[in-house]
Amino acid sequence: MNSIRLVRTLTKCMSVRPYSMAPCEILELLEAGYQKLADSDSKSLLKKHLTKPIFDKLKTKVTPSYCSTLLDCIQSGLCNLDSNVGIYAPDPEAYQTFAEIFDPIINDYHKGFGKGAKHPASCFGYGADFPDLDPEQKFILSTRVRCGRSIQDFPFNPCLSEDDYRKLECMITKVLSTLCNEHAGKYYPLAGMEKDVQQKLIDKHYLFKEGDRFLQAANASRFWPTGRGIFINRARTFLVWVNEEDHIRIISMERGGDLGRVYERMIIGLESLAYSLKFSSDSRLGNLTFCPTNLGTTIRASVHIKLPHLGKDRAKLEEMAKKHNLQVRGTSGEHTEAKDGVYDISNTRRMGLTEYQAVGEMHKGISALIEAECQECCKK
Ligand code: ADP
Ligand code: ARG
Repeated sequence: MNSIRLVRTLTKCMSVRPYSMAPCEILELLEAGYQKLADSDSKSLLKKHLTKPIFDKLKTKVTPSYCSTLLDCIQSGLCNLDSNVGIYAPDPEAYQTFAEIFDPIINDYHKGFGKGAKHPASCFGYGADFPDLDPEQKFILSTRVRCGRSIQDFPFNPCLSEDDYRKLECMITKVLSTLCNEHAGKYYPLAGMEKDVQQKLIDKHYLFKEGDRFLQAANASRFWPTGRGIFINRARTFLVWVNEEDHIRIISMERGGDLGRVYERMIIGLESLAYSLKFSSDSRLGNLTFCPTNLGTTIRASVHIKLPHLGKDRAKLEEMAKKHNLQVRGTSGEHTEAKDGVYDISNTRRMGLTEYQAVGEMHKGISALIEAECQECCKK
């Protein structure tokens, strides 16, 4: 019965979107994947919240414009049982069509974005309110603030055609070429980039990595490297990633702990782009992104920091960070290990609070960690 329903729906959708699988195959993969997830000891939010009644309710649904299925949303989490989250939105409508699974995950990740909650209006405030976190340069190597944006009227990675990638790249780079003063720079497409140049940019933490298995399993790396690339300003303090996880990632970074200055630079860059590009947003969820962890403000403000005493016990550091709504990542970003005692620590919550509050939460939390590090040091 279910399979007949999905077959009917998907057959109607064939003209909108050519599926690489037959409808009954999609349903079979969903059923088998769900069973594997349910039997596993996965710690993902997907496993925690995808109950059988919700799964059964959603497995035959598709989004109205792009005909995305539940499999499009959860295949990364089904393939990668070690996912933390395990779900992506293949198109902006998926947050609505599959709300029964997205909403509890969003609520859990962003802490307290419950039923009826609405993301607040954007408010960036002033960078000057966030003084240098480490004026003596004892702990912080560098500071980075990034946000993501999706271009209106385009779906997310799994639904983009090769031509869409090219169109997006063309639209975005046209606007990037108009940036001036500190933000002026040059766009480097990934297609045709020498491998050693690419690796150097990755090693310097400017460029995104290649071959992220979570994104690959979500069908987010198709036609790679078509349409992907990086824009870099002259001072290498302002960067824009094109068509990696999101259509656009706007990044400001520099050595040291001057969060306010880094944040201000990101705001000005974002505002310049927003002048000419229309971004996808939702009255309830704020800015729309491919991954639900990035919704709302989309802001991740991070430091590369050395905390030799606190870092002796990673579990304790994580626990302390969690109390301040901070997340600990490795030196080369998500899903990597810390090298030479350098941690990437950033705000976890991006939704249900303003940009100013998200960055403020990070500023306060990092200050507290530095203070705790100093106290540990004094004990010795
Ligand atoms: P994102 O920040 O876009 O979610 P990642 O966690 O993969 O993605 O990080 C992307 C890159 O940014 C990685 O190379 C990471 O080391 C680098 N990075 C993050 N924070 C900082 C920082 N404060 N200083 C320098 N590099 C950073
Ligand atoms: N899907 C991956 C996981 O669940 C990443 C989630 C958050 N990170 C991201 N880059 N969107 O672990």
